[in-house]
Amino acid sequence: MNLEKNVPLQPYNTFGIAAKAQALVRVHTEADLLAVLADPALATLPRQVLGGGSNIVLTGDVKALVLKVEVPGMRLASETDKNWVIEAGAGEDWHALVAWTLDNGYPGLENMALIPGTVGASPVQNIGAYGVELQDRFDSLDAMDLFTGELFSLNAAQCGFSYRDSVFKHVSSGPEGLGLSGRAVILRVRFALPKRWKPELGYLDLERKMAETGIHNPDAQQIFDWVVAIRRAKLPDPAVIGNAGSFFKNPTVTPEQCADIIARDPKVVHYPMPDGSIKLAAGWLINACGWKGKTVGHAGVYEKQALVLVNRGGRENPCTGGEVMTLAKAIQTSVYERFGIRLEPEPVVI
Ligand code: EPU
Repeated sequence: MNLEKNVPLQPYNTFGIAAKAQALVRVHTEADLLAVLADPALATLPRQVLGGGSNIVLTGDVKALVLKVEVPGMRLASETDKNWVIEAGAGEDWHALVAWTLDNGYPGLENMALIPGTVGASPVQNIGAYGVELQDRFDSLDAMDLFTGELFSLNAAQCGFSYRDSVFKHVSSGPEGLGLSGRAVILRVRFALPKRWKPELGYLDLERKMAETGIHNPDAQQIFDWVVAIRRAKLPDPAVIGNAGSFFKNPTVTPEQCADIIARDPKVVHYPMPDGSIKLAAGWLINACGWKGKTVGHAGVYEKQALVLVNRGGRENPCTGGEVMTLAKAIQTSVYERFGIRLEPEPVVI
């Protein structure tokens, strides 16, 4: 185990916010974590797990011991009649895994191409895009309990997945509590990719691509290419403009609330959900309040997608986490005042 002190975290968060970790350990294997737990000087420190840093806002230097997960590996772990089971180390880049699965003949993750972040972070917020969520392709994961050093595995039900949510985002409320935030470090994730692959083409942007190109039976590589093109056209590349993807979750409302909003704003973008509720496009609501292109300090609202907050100062004069949160709160207030809807942030604020 190698303990690093005063480590700049700017390269490790996709917003590009400048902050330092007082202490950081890179986790390549279980043994690195066990060494942390066995070290009397480190054992008592609070801990912060860091993956690809694509879903966090750093509001200051991190005083907790940062555990930077860098567990490698991608392989076919097993297969059943129905599925290929692919296992990946939590430190692998998500998009690299998606590309690897396609290159090796295991389609199924293509709709989630180009989502920034690591494999280990993917179950935490149940990532999803263009009609497919991680939970649709999830098999199981291995993690370590940071209090006991025990290794354990969880299946999908045990992960408690819902829209951009899982047990890993919740703090345990007591011995019976299910929350694993701050308690578990995800080391490996397994994906069940169906041998009888079917394209998922229900999302409007993909329907448009089919109409544009005249290709109505795309293979997985074609869908991958389309998703990459769609994302590049409307989402900022974090390597160029710092950001953490969608900053707010899409809110759900009752049909009555939705009817009330439609009566005032007939163009509101809304989708009926299987449970009878209605999902609204948060990006539309934010745009309707006039936020596109606005800034607070060096934090801003992306011009092509109002749901994405960006760092306008680059690496040289980056926005602070405080500026991002001030902007986010101002957006929440104006959306609440106009529509009566409370937007919930998606990233974890540290
Ligand atoms: N819209 C606007 N103005 C905007 C933004 C959106 O009018 O500034 C409207 C458009 O009509 C658009 C609709 O909202 O058609 C939906 O927008 P989009 O297809 O871009 O999807 P989204 O709901 O804004 C969600 C996910 C994204 C994911 C896309 C595609 C959330 C919070 N976000 O965004 O995920 O890539 O769908 O599936 O669910 C992320 O979580 O970081 C993320 C990027």
